[in-house]
Amino acid sequence: MSFNNIIVESVEGITTITFNRPKALNALNSELLAEFAQAVEAVANDEAVRVLVLTGAGGKAFVAGADITELAKLDTLKAKVFINRGLSVINRLTELPIPVIAAVNGFALGGGLEIAMACDFIYASEAAAFGQPEIKLGLIPGYGGTQRLPRIIGAARAKELLYTGRMIKAQEALALGIVNRVTAPEALMAQVMATAREMAGMGRVSLRATKQAVNFGLNVDLATGLRIETDAFALCMASSDAKEGTSAFLEKRKAAFKGGLLQ
Ligand code: CAA
Repeated sequence: MSFNNIIVESVEGITTITFNRPKALNALNSELLAEFAQAVEAVANDEAVRVLVLTGAGGKAFVAGADITELAKLDTLKAKVFINRGLSVINRLTELPIPVIAAVNGFALGGGLEIAMACDFIYASEAAAFGQPEIKLGLIPGYGGTQRLPRIIGAARAKELLYTGRMIKAQEALALGIVNRVTAPEALMAQVMATAREMAGMGRVSLRATKQAVNFGLNVDLATGLRIETDAFALCMASSDAKEGTSAFLEKRKAAFKGGLLQ
């Protein structure tokens, strides 16, 4: 597949999608969003992909938000289409059965932060900056910022960022819990790939079950969440990965996970 606005590369089961409109700081226009949706769908349908990494080209930005030149021309109905198109690919990211890491190398603003927050976790370079600046455009976030940011950092902290549109640096994002790890810019991808490789070596079935238990569990009460976990645990026991993992431990060897159900 060849694209104009993204680059897709796969190495050893790790696929990287790089947002590639550096002249516009990788802002999300309709064409980029359509290509991103196509690439995410391809990842969803490819069993060989074990981990997805998202990053931005050009060294200055992850994604500086939705493309404001396009936004400025939208009427109410078109705005709904534009938002739904972006939101559906962002939701698809959260539903992927594999881990998704955002490698934030620069500006992650508006829709850029919203994409990063929809990933399982974020690693950032010291040069990264985060914010939901939509209020300065007379708008509000449209790709989940009013919902995901408060769930990650709490309502009061999120409201301060949402009401002011203030941009924060990587270290503050780390302190707030938006980001898991901050590295030197030149070390970012190596760190991300090291963690991606670690996860890619785990069992497909248990990775998917873990992701689903966390994601579904966050939206329900604790008792229901614990039930989700119990069912997911039992399902894992039916996998060849559970058989292989427990056998490997007892036989004092490294597990080689294949990701199937017990035959
Ligand atoms: N849309 C379209 N173009 C953008 C853009 C965006 N979101 N962000 C940057 N660009 C373009 C600039 O217009 C500029 O293009 P030209 O060279 O043709 O003038 C180019 O990228 C470089 O940007 P700057 O010259 O502005 O670079 P800077 O270093 O001075 O500033 C910045 C960087 C602070 C990120 C600044 O570009 C900026 O504030 N960008 C807008 C950020 C923003 O408001 N994002 C939210 C968008 S709305 C949204 O995302 C809604 C939603 O939730 C779905």
